[in-house]
Amino acid sequence: MEKRYNPFSLDNRTVLVTGASSGIGRTTAIECSRMGARVIITGRDQARLDSVSQELEGEGHLSLTADLTQEDQLNQLIEQLPVVDGVVLCAGQGTVVPFKMADRKKLDPIFEINYFAPVELLRLLLKKKKLAPAASVVFVSSIGGVDSITIGNSIYGASKAALNSAMRFCALELSPKKIRVNSVCPGMVNTRLIQGGAVSEEQHQADMLKYPLKRYGEPEDIAHGIIYLLSNASSWVTGHSLVIDGGYTI
Ligand SMILES: NC(=O)c1ccc[n+]([C@@H]2O[C@H](COP(=O)([O-])OP(=O)(O)OC[C@H]3O[C@@H](n4cnc5c(N)ncnc54)[C@H](OP(=O)(O)O)[C@@H]3O)[C@@H](O)[C@H]2O)c1
Repeated sequence: MEKRYNPFSLDNRTVLVTGASSGIGRTTAIECSRMGARVIITGRDQARLDSVSQELEGEGHLSLTADLTQEDQLNQLIEQLPVVDGVVLCAGQGTVVPFKMADRKKLDPIFEINYFAPVELLRLLLKKKKLAPAASVVFVSSIGGVDSITIGNSIYGASKAALNSAMRFCALELSPKKIRVNSVCPGMVNTRLIQGGAVSEEQHQADMLKYPLKRYGEPEDIAHGIIYLLSNASSWVTGHSLVIDGGYTI
Protein backbone atom coordinates (compact mmCIF):
# COMPACT_ATOMS: atom_id res chain seq x y z
CA MET A 1 0.00 0.00 0.00
CA GLU A 2 1.26 3.51 -0.86
CA LYS A 3 2.33 5.53 2.21
CA ARG A 4 0.24 8.63 3.02
CA TYR A 5 1.92 12.05 3.13
CA ASN A 6 3.07 12.74 6.68
CA PRO A 7 5.67 15.47 7.43
CA PHE A 8 5.72 14.31 11.09
CA SER A 9 6.85 10.78 10.18
CA LEU A 10 9.91 9.33 11.92
CA ASP A 11 10.36 6.52 9.39
CA ASN A 12 13.98 5.38 9.05
CA ARG A 13 15.10 7.46 12.07
CA THR A 14 16.91 6.11 15.09
CA VAL A 15 15.91 8.04 18.22
CA LEU A 16 17.52 7.85 21.67
CA VAL A 17 15.14 8.60 24.56
CA THR A 18 16.51 9.04 28.10
CA GLY A 19 14.14 8.75 31.05
CA ALA A 20 12.23 6.26 28.90
CA SER A 21 11.26 3.99 31.78
CA SER A 22 8.53 6.30 33.09
CA GLY A 23 6.16 9.19 32.42
CA ILE A 24 6.90 11.59 29.54
CA GLY A 25 9.96 9.65 28.31
CA ARG A 26 8.06 6.36 28.32
CA THR A 27 5.19 7.77 26.26
CA THR A 28 7.60 9.62 23.95
CA ALA A 29 9.45 6.37 23.20
CA ILE A 30 6.21 4.51 22.47
CA GLU A 31 4.79 7.34 20.32
CA CYS A 32 8.10 7.67 18.38
CA SER A 33 7.95 3.94 17.60
CA ARG A 34 4.35 4.39 16.40
CA MET A 35 5.60 7.19 14.10
CA GLY A 36 8.08 4.76 12.54
CA ALA A 37 11.28 5.31 14.52
CA ARG A 38 13.69 2.71 15.74
CA VAL A 39 13.95 3.66 19.41
CA ILE A 40 16.76 3.27 21.92
CA ILE A 41 15.36 3.53 25.42
CA THR A 42 17.39 4.16 28.53
CA GLY A 43 16.70 4.53 32.25
CA ARG A 44 17.93 3.07 35.52
CA ASP A 45 15.18 0.55 36.21
CA GLN A 46 15.51 -2.59 34.06
CA ALA A 47 12.03 -3.94 34.88
CA ARG A 48 10.32 -0.68 33.92
CA LEU A 49 12.37 -0.52 30.70
CA ASP A 50 11.35 -4.10 29.88
CA SER A 51 7.67 -3.19 30.18
CA VAL A 52 8.21 -0.21 27.82
CA SER A 53 10.04 -2.47 25.33
CA GLN A 54 6.93 -4.63 25.14
CA GLU A 55 4.84 -1.64 24.09
CA LEU A 56 7.14 -0.41 21.30
CA GLU A 57 5.79 -0.90 17.79
CA GLY A 58 8.00 -2.17 14.97
CA GLU A 59 11.39 -3.84 14.98
CA GLY A 60 15.01 -3.22 15.94
CA HIS A 61 14.57 -1.30 19.20
CA LEU A 62 17.24 -1.36 21.91
CA SER A 63 17.06 -1.05 25.71
CA LEU A 64 20.11 0.07 27.72
CA THR A 65 20.21 0.67 31.48
CA ALA A 66 22.35 3.49 32.85
CA ASP A 67 22.42 5.97 35.69
CA LEU A 68 23.28 9.10 33.72
CA THR A 69 24.85 10.79 36.74
CA GLN A 70 27.56 8.07 36.93
CA GLU A 71 30.47 8.86 34.59
CA ASP A 72 31.37 5.20 33.94
CA GLN A 73 27.74 4.26 33.13
CA LEU A 74 27.31 7.28 30.88
CA ASN A 75 30.51 6.42 28.96
CA GLN A 76 29.40 2.80 28.64
CA LEU A 77 26.01 3.91 27.29
CA ILE A 78 27.68 6.12 24.66
CA GLU A 79 29.94 3.22 23.58
CA GLN A 80 26.91 0.96 23.05
CA LEU A 81 24.96 3.47 20.94
CA PRO A 82 24.74 3.45 17.17
CA VAL A 83 24.68 6.76 15.27
CA VAL A 84 21.34 8.42 16.08
CA ASP A 85 19.12 10.84 14.13
CA GLY A 86 17.21 12.09 17.15
CA VAL A 87 17.86 12.53 20.86
CA VAL A 88 15.26 13.22 23.55
CA LEU A 89 16.93 14.17 26.83
CA CYS A 90 14.05 13.54 29.20
CA ALA A 91 15.56 11.95 32.35
CA GLY A 92 15.08 14.30 35.27
CA GLN A 93 13.93 14.67 38.84
CA GLY A 94 11.84 17.18 40.74
CA THR A 95 12.17 18.69 44.17
CA VAL A 96 10.22 21.26 46.17
CA VAL A 97 12.37 23.05 48.76
CA PRO A 98 11.93 26.49 50.37
CA PHE A 99 14.84 28.71 49.29
CA LYS A 100 16.16 28.96 52.89
CA MET A 101 16.65 25.17 52.86
CA ALA A 102 18.06 25.04 49.31
CA ASP A 103 21.66 24.26 50.24
CA ARG A 104 24.25 22.49 48.04
CA LYS A 105 23.21 19.08 49.45
CA LYS A 106 19.75 19.59 47.94
CA LEU A 107 20.87 21.55 44.90
CA ASP A 108 23.72 19.37 43.58
CA PRO A 109 21.82 16.08 42.96
CA ILE A 110 19.08 17.91 41.03
CA PHE A 111 21.61 19.79 38.89
CA GLU A 112 23.50 16.50 38.32
CA ILE A 113 20.53 14.80 36.64
CA ASN A 114 18.58 17.79 35.26
CA TYR A 115 21.49 19.81 33.84
CA PHE A 116 24.95 18.16 33.89
CA ALA A 117 23.81 14.69 32.71
CA PRO A 118 21.92 15.76 29.54
CA VAL A 119 24.50 18.37 28.57
CA GLU A 120 27.40 15.91 29.04
CA LEU A 121 25.50 13.21 27.16
CA LEU A 122 25.06 15.54 24.18
CA ARG A 123 28.74 16.57 24.33
CA LEU A 124 29.85 12.92 24.30
CA LEU A 125 27.51 12.07 21.41
CA LEU A 126 29.18 14.81 19.39
CA LYS A 127 32.71 13.92 20.45
CA LYS A 128 32.19 10.23 19.59
CA LYS A 129 30.52 11.13 16.26
CA LYS A 130 27.25 9.43 17.23
CA LEU A 131 24.97 12.20 15.91
CA ALA A 132 23.87 11.84 12.28
CA PRO A 133 24.08 14.88 9.98
CA ALA A 134 20.94 17.01 10.42
CA ALA A 135 20.07 15.23 13.67
CA SER A 136 17.49 16.78 16.00
CA VAL A 137 18.07 17.13 19.75
CA VAL A 138 15.25 17.87 22.21
CA PHE A 139 15.88 18.76 25.85
CA VAL A 140 12.95 18.30 28.21
CA SER A 141 12.92 21.48 30.30
CA SER A 142 9.93 22.99 32.14
CA ILE A 143 7.86 26.17 32.37
CA GLY A 144 9.83 26.57 35.63
CA GLY A 145 12.82 27.16 33.32
CA VAL A 146 11.14 30.01 31.47
CA ASP A 147 8.66 32.25 33.23
CA SER A 148 6.72 30.28 35.81
CA ILE A 149 8.14 31.44 39.14
CA THR A 150 6.55 29.53 42.03
CA ILE A 151 7.35 29.02 45.71
CA GLY A 152 9.72 26.15 46.55
CA ASN A 153 10.91 25.63 42.99
CA SER A 154 14.15 27.65 42.91
CA ILE A 155 16.44 24.60 42.54
CA TYR A 156 14.30 22.81 39.97
CA GLY A 157 13.51 25.99 38.00
CA ALA A 158 17.16 27.08 37.91
CA SER A 159 18.27 23.64 36.67
CA LYS A 160 15.74 23.86 33.82
CA ALA A 161 16.58 27.51 33.03
CA ALA A 162 20.25 26.47 32.74
CA LEU A 163 19.18 23.72 30.34
CA ASN A 164 17.25 26.17 28.16
CA SER A 165 20.26 28.44 28.05
CA ALA A 166 22.66 25.60 27.10
CA MET A 167 20.17 24.54 24.43
CA ARG A 168 20.41 27.92 22.68
CA PHE A 169 24.23 27.99 22.75
CA CYS A 170 24.32 24.43 21.35
CA ALA A 171 21.75 25.34 18.66
CA LEU A 172 24.03 28.13 17.41
CA GLU A 173 27.25 26.11 17.60
CA LEU A 174 25.80 23.03 15.89
CA SER A 175 23.93 24.88 13.15
CA PRO A 176 26.85 24.57 10.66
CA LYS A 177 26.33 20.78 10.89
CA LYS A 178 22.56 21.32 10.35
CA ILE A 179 21.99 19.73 13.75
CA ARG A 180 18.93 21.32 15.38
CA VAL A 181 18.64 21.76 19.15
CA ASN A 182 15.39 22.72 20.88
CA SER A 183 13.57 22.19 24.17
CA VAL A 184 10.04 21.54 25.31
CA CYS A 185 8.80 23.28 28.45
CA PRO A 186 5.84 21.41 29.94
CA GLY A 187 3.49 22.67 32.62
CA MET A 188 2.27 20.13 35.18
CA VAL A 189 1.93 16.69 33.60
CA ASN A 190 0.30 13.62 35.19
CA THR A 191 3.34 11.41 35.89
CA ARG A 192 5.13 9.84 38.85
CA LEU A 193 7.09 13.10 39.25
CA ILE A 194 4.09 15.04 40.59
CA GLN A 195 2.41 12.14 42.39
CA GLY A 196 2.96 11.04 45.95
CA GLY A 197 4.70 14.26 47.04
CA ALA A 198 3.68 16.74 49.70
CA VAL A 199 0.83 18.03 47.52
CA SER A 200 -2.58 16.40 48.09
CA GLU A 201 -4.99 15.37 45.33
CA GLU A 202 -7.36 18.21 46.40
CA GLN A 203 -4.51 20.74 46.04
CA HIS A 204 -3.76 19.36 42.57
CA GLN A 205 -7.44 19.69 41.62
CA ALA A 206 -7.46 23.33 42.82
CA ASP A 207 -4.19 24.03 40.97
CA MET A 208 -5.62 22.64 37.72
CA LEU A 209 -8.25 25.38 37.77
CA LYS A 210 -5.41 27.94 37.28
CA TYR A 211 -4.81 26.37 33.85
CA PRO A 212 -6.96 28.06 31.15
CA LEU A 213 -7.66 24.59 29.68
CA LYS A 214 -8.63 23.38 33.21
CA ARG A 215 -6.50 20.26 33.35
CA TYR A 216 -2.94 19.09 33.79
CA GLY A 217 -1.15 17.69 30.74
CA GLU A 218 -0.95 14.04 29.82
CA PRO A 219 2.41 12.57 28.68
CA GLU A 220 1.02 12.37 25.10
CA ASP A 221 0.57 16.18 25.05
CA ILE A 222 4.33 16.55 25.50
CA ALA A 223 5.36 13.54 23.38
CA HIS A 224 3.56 14.99 20.36
CA GLY A 225 5.41 18.31 20.69
CA ILE A 226 8.67 16.36 20.89
CA ILE A 227 7.75 14.41 17.75
CA TYR A 228 7.18 17.71 15.92
CA LEU A 229 10.68 18.85 16.94
CA LEU A 230 12.25 15.51 15.92
CA SER A 231 10.53 15.39 12.54
CA ASN A 232 11.05 17.22 9.24
CA ALA A 233 7.95 19.29 10.06
CA SER A 234 10.24 21.49 12.21
CA SER A 235 13.24 21.55 9.87
CA TRP A 236 13.52 25.38 10.14
CA VAL A 237 13.18 25.44 13.94
CA THR A 238 16.26 25.58 16.16
CA GLY A 239 17.14 27.26 19.47
CA HIS A 240 13.47 27.31 20.44
CA SER A 241 11.76 26.53 23.77
CA LEU A 242 8.34 25.12 22.99
CA VAL A 243 5.99 25.79 25.91
CA ILE A 244 3.26 23.14 26.26
CA ASP A 245 1.21 24.09 29.30
CA GLY A 246 -2.53 24.33 28.63
CA GLY A 247 -2.17 28.11 28.57
CA TYR A 248 -0.77 28.42 32.14
CA THR A 249 1.91 30.99 31.23
CA ILE A 250 -0.28 33.14 28.95
N1 LIG B 1 5.64 15.77 35.19
C1 LIG B 1 5.70 17.09 35.12
O1 LIG B 1 4.82 17.81 35.61
C2 LIG B 1 6.87 17.75 34.41
C3 LIG B 1 6.75 19.12 34.09
C4 LIG B 1 7.80 19.76 33.44
C5 LIG B 1 8.94 19.05 33.11
N2 LIG B 1 9.04 17.73 33.43
C6 LIG B 1 10.29 17.03 33.08
O2 LIG B 1 9.99 15.90 32.30
C7 LIG B 1 11.02 14.94 32.47
C8 LIG B 1 10.37 13.59 32.73
O3 LIG B 1 9.66 13.66 33.95
P1 LIG B 1 8.38 12.74 34.25
O4 LIG B 1 7.34 13.64 34.75
O5 LIG B 1 8.13 11.85 33.14
O6 LIG B 1 8.96 11.96 35.54
P2 LIG B 1 9.10 10.40 35.88
O7 LIG B 1 7.87 9.66 35.49
O8 LIG B 1 9.53 10.38 37.30
O9 LIG B 1 10.31 9.91 34.93
C9 LIG B 1 11.63 10.31 35.19
C10 LIG B 1 12.56 9.50 34.32
O10 LIG B 1 13.91 9.96 34.54
C11 LIG B 1 14.72 8.83 34.80
N3 LIG B 1 15.84 9.18 35.69
C12 LIG B 1 15.79 9.85 36.85
N4 LIG B 1 17.02 9.94 37.39
C13 LIG B 1 17.87 9.29 36.54
C14 LIG B 1 19.27 9.03 36.53
N5 LIG B 1 20.05 9.43 37.53
N6 LIG B 1 19.80 8.36 35.49
C15 LIG B 1 19.00 7.92 34.48
N7 LIG B 1 17.67 8.12 34.42
C16 LIG B 1 17.12 8.81 35.44
C17 LIG B 1 13.81 7.83 35.47
O11 LIG B 1 14.40 6.55 35.37
P3 LIG B 1 14.06 5.33 36.43
O12 LIG B 1 12.61 5.02 36.23
O13 LIG B 1 14.89 4.22 35.94
O14 LIG B 1 14.38 5.83 37.77
C18 LIG B 1 12.55 8.01 34.65
O15 LIG B 1 12.62 7.27 33.45
C19 LIG B 1 11.90 15.43 33.61
O16 LIG B 1 13.07 16.03 33.07
C20 LIG B 1 11.04 16.48 34.28
O17 LIG B 1 11.81 17.48 34.93
C21 LIG B 1 8.03 17.05 34.07
